Amino acid sequence: MSSDIQESKKSKRSNTASLDDIYISEETRKRLLYRKEKEQKRKVLKHVRIDDKELEKEIDKGVTELPKKRFYRQRAHSNPFSDHQLEYPKSPRHMDWARFYPDFISKDSGTLPTDKRVEIADIGCGFGGLLVDLSPEFPETLILGMEIRVQVTNYVEDKIIALRAQHKGTGKYSNINVIRGNAMKFLPNFFEKSQLKKMFFCFPDPHFKQRKHKARIITNTLLSEYAYVLRVGGIIYTISDVLDLHEWMKSHLNEHPLFERLTELEEKEDKCVQIMTHSTEEGKKVERNKGSKFIACYRRIPDL
Ligand SMILES: C[S@@+](CC[C@H](N)C(=O)[O-])C[C@H]1O[C@@H](n2cnc3c(N)ncnc32)[C@H](O)[C@@H]1O
Repeated sequence: MSSDIQESKKSKRSNTASLDDIYISEETRKRLLYRKEKEQKRKVLKHVRIDDKELEKEIDKGVTELPKKRFYRQRAHSNPFSDHQLEYPKSPRHMDWARFYPDFISKDSGTLPTDKRVEIADIGCGFGGLLVDLSPEFPETLILGMEIRVQVTNYVEDKIIALRAQHKGTGKYSNINVIRGNAMKFLPNFFEKSQLKKMFFCFPDPHFKQRKHKARIITNTLLSEYAYVLRVGGIIYTISDVLDLHEWMKSHLNEHPLFERLTELEEKEDKCVQIMTHSTEEGKKVERNKGSKFIACYRRIPDL
């Protein structure tokens, strides 16, 4: 059974049974209570304009507090080939994006304007540091993190709720959101052809062993999917502290007919490269450990 299913069974149990009825350590009890309280707030606040009047009471009840990472602990890896209980739309047209970016809903139509679509995706966004730092750089662009681990996704959702509440009335952080999903399986269900202008792959899981290489997030087949959802001129950003993985990503991107590498100068001058180098949680860990960071960015070129 996958850890995520176990995780969701556990959390269902914790929602229905009283925590007094089961034996758990004090630490687990604290974590489950914390998660339960956050989950209730998330249900109310996840898909609403955070500055709506009726929510002010909720906001007063501690919603502006940033979530504590230690309460969202989950195994480091989630198997991208397992049958997670994931929800995904039949096609991008079946996705209700307005619920993710309520501040952008047009008053006239009650939905998002047709030209307001997600244009930047952070694949395997982890704890969401990149989303938060990209947000003010592209205030009019909808940015989405996709993350396979359920508790990590919950953490990012709670962080975005808290940030929006802290800045209520300003619209800040209203352009970012996160979705739980497996980018290796369902990307074209979420995004139309040529919809994205940027895709980030920051410190992806290295899957060191040869027999696990097929689980890497950059492969020939997946690159063709990324080329499909990226517009011509759009950019794939990659960064890793693992040289072998960096070489792997470069060689697959070099071989793919629909991508060309940015020049050294272009990479150096791209503000997104600066941001992704320093903003993600994994990148910060690498900095603390004085590790190296290897970067490679590729442009989507026209079909042959
Ligand atoms: C090493 S972490 C890096 C997180 C973040 N990008 C950073 O730099 O801090 C890799 C993340 O990718 C997620 N992930 C792995 N495979 C995935 C997939 N197929 N779809 C979505 N997320 C995935 C993992 O759960 C994990 O959070």
